[in-house]
Formats: sequence, C-alpha cells, structure tokens
Amino acid sequence: VPTTQTYPTADDMAQRWSNLAQAIVADQGAPPAPCDQPGSLVVLGSGISHIDLTADTEAEIRSADYVFYCLYDRLSQIWINGLRPDAYDLAALYTEEGDRYGTYLRMAEALLYHVRRGAKVVAIYYGHPGVFAMPAHRAIGIARSEGHQARMRPGISALDYLVADLGFDPALPGLLTFEATDLLLRRRRIDTSLHLVLWQVGVVGEFGFNPKGFENHGFDLLLDELEIAYGAEWPVTHYIAAQYVGIPPLIEKTQIGQLREPEARRRIGALSTFYIEPLVAVGTDPDRAERLGLTKPGEQPPPPDRLYVNFGYSDLERDALQAFERFALSPAYAVPGPTAEADFIFALGRDPKLQARFREDPLSLAEDPLFASLPERSRRLLSLSHPWAVTTAMMEGTPTPKTTSISFK
Ligand SMILES: C[S@@+](CC[C@H](N)C(=O)[O-])C[C@H]1O[C@@H](n2cnc3c(N)ncnc32)[C@H](O)[C@@H]1O
Repeated sequence: VPTTQTYPTADDMAQRWSNLAQAIVADQGAPPAPCDQPGSLVVLGSGISHIDLTADTEAEIRSADYVFYCLYDRLSQIWINGLRPDAYDLAALYTEEGDRYGTYLRMAEALLYHVRRGAKVVAIYYGHPGVFAMPAHRAIGIARSEGHQARMRPGISALDYLVADLGFDPALPGLLTFEATDLLLRRRRIDTSLHLVLWQVGVVGEFGFNPKGFENHGFDLLLDELEIAYGAEWPVTHYIAAQYVGIPPLIEKTQIGQLREPEARRRIGALSTFYIEPLVAVGTDPDRAERLGLTKPGEQPPPPDRLYVNFGYSDLERDALQAFERFALSPAYAVPGPTAEADFIFALGRDPKLQARFREDPLSLAEDPLFASLPERSRRLLSLSHPWAVTTAMMEGTPTPKTTSISFK
C-alpha cells in the first residue's frame, strides 16, 4: 500500500528500510503463522538500458502492494521512484561491511517479508533478474515452498547485448560462460574451441562491496589462467553494454597480455565483461556423422573451420540466390489477421488482474462476456493453458474485423 505520493528522499528510504529490517529481525524469533491468503512474488528484469522494460512491467508495478528495485541505470531508477515513491531500493543494502552473499540473503528476505503476509510483491532487477543474480532465485524458491505464488519474467541480460554488439552466434560453434572468480577457484576447464564470456572480471576474488570501486586483486591470476589457455597474444574484448540509448557500447579489443598494463587494468570495472573468440576448430567425428546419416560410409566429413559466419559469395551462395527466379508464394500461405483468440491473449498480457483470474480459473475467464466472440472450442483450448493447446487456438483463430492499430502496451 503506497505510503507516500511524493518523490522519495534518502531519509524516506532510510526510514522504510530500518522499519523493514527491524520487522525481519523480529520474524526470526517468531515467524508469521501461515496466512489464509497466499502472497505473490513477481520478479521482473529491467534489461540493461532504460528502454528494455517489457510491456507488462508498468502494469505489474502499479498493481503491486510493495515494490523493490535493484537497478543500475539512473533513468530507470528515476522512473520507478516517480511511479512508486513508496518503493524500496535494494541497492541500499550494499554496505562496506559484510559480504555480498550476506547482502543477497537480506535482499531475498526483504522480498519475502510481505509475501508471507499475503501481499503482492514486485521486485525488479536490472538485466535478467535470474542471470548472475542469486536473491531472486532464492526468494522465489522459498516463496513457492511456503505455498505462495512466485514467478520470474526474463529481462535482456548483458550477454544478450554482448551477442548483438559483438556480432556472433552462440550456436556456432557454442558458448562457454563463467564467473571469473569461480573459474579460478574451481579450476574450471576452458574449452578454447568455443566462444568464451567471462563475467565479473572487475571484481576477481572480491566478495565484499566497496562503494569507491574494487581493487580487483585477483585480476592477474585471471590473466595467468587465460594466458595458459590462449597465450598472451590472443585477442580479448573488454565489453560494457550501453545503458542509455544513443550512447555507444564500450568495445575494446586488446591482447590478453596487454591487460597487465596498469592503464588497461584501470579501465576494467564492476560492469566489465570479457569476450574471447575461439582459438581452435574442432572437426566433425566421422563415425557420428555417418550414424546421423550426414555422410556415406567411408566418406570424410569436411575439415574443421574456425570461421562460423560466411560473408562470401561462392557458387553455393550464388546458386541459392539464383533460385529467387523461381520464387512463388505458397498457396497455403495466409497473412495472419486479427482474431478473437489474439484479442484474448492481448488483454491477458496487458492486465495482471486478468492474469491472476486466469491462473485461478482459466475457463471462467475465457467464458467472461468480455470475450464473447471466442468460440467454445477456443475457450476450452485456451483454458488448458498448455503451450500446444494455446498455439492451436491461436493458429485456428476466429477472424475479427481487420485493423492496423494494435498496441502491446
Ligand atoms: C551481478 S552480475 C548481474 C548481471 C545481470 N543480471 C544481467 O542480466 O546482465 C554483474 C556482472 O554482469 C555483467 N554486466 C552487468 N552490466 C553490464 C553491462 N552494462 N555491460 C557488460 N556487462 C555487464 C558484468 O560482468 C558484471 O560484473
């Protein structure tokens, strides 16, 4: 329940956090009795840039009893404080004393406090809320185990931006990704035939929090490890995705060994991620290729290739393009038009209250007069909530008048 309508001050934030902190401590001795009405927790991702919010985010935040946020970019922070002046800034829990793990445990408990009392809590984390972000997974797991509803919506992570900005496909030939400190601590095995993405390279060996910046005292050990695997001259890209639209990302390609220079080191910070391209190519196993029916007995598969994207125009590409001459649209093709089923799904996506009704009793929502144009079969299919049933209802579709002005928001 919003407690203030004016933009919050640091004092407001201090007050609400100290009240909640005391209440959480009091709970340790006397956890709340199971409540009649289960609470709900929705964890959202805000993406990296302020325009990455999914279309349902605002409605979820507006409809919440309590809102928590852990955001990096300033625009999203300003936006959410304006939308919900009563929201709790989770970043306030990062303090110089104490380790990050302790902070994460306190974050998860803060999310759970009001859920345990039957409230709807919405938490929003930057990037993808479940990627290299433990508190959301913990809070969701505990909430479910205590009988509450809990779900996570994905967001655009730093890795998604990296793939877009550096221009490679994780499928070709494959992607290996590690947390930098974990790579060292557990002597993870690097497969140099794959794309490698290393997270948290600016906080190697640091488990605390330093508001003035991290020393990154394990960084040399990380470089030692990378040099063993790739050699000092192999390229590494220092990457920071842009948080603000119109500002370019940071993409600095250098050599592993050159990162030892104090000037290069100083540029690595809390948002830095490393990308290393594959060093070696792995050939196709002849036996597997034959068993999969891709080669004939005795035939040799093609030699390994390190270049996974083809920018060339050989006979193969030219023949493929020449086939455009014979192009004709298949008679089975139809332009998907507006349908009653699509209207139902649009409405559901826009309104968390309809979603709650659908979760509770899907058939009764599908039978609501709001959706009078849905045929009986579609109502039944949609109310099954199974991906195939919903896809079938959407594919079959009951046409409604054509329009060109559909909005997701
Ligand atoms: C605790 S993780 C949070 C990741 C976040 N949940 C996500 O989905 O991207 C922090 C690490 O994510 C990476 N990261 C976060 N923001 C980034 C950005 N703008 N550009 C590149 N990497 C970033 C860095 O490796 C950083 O050390």
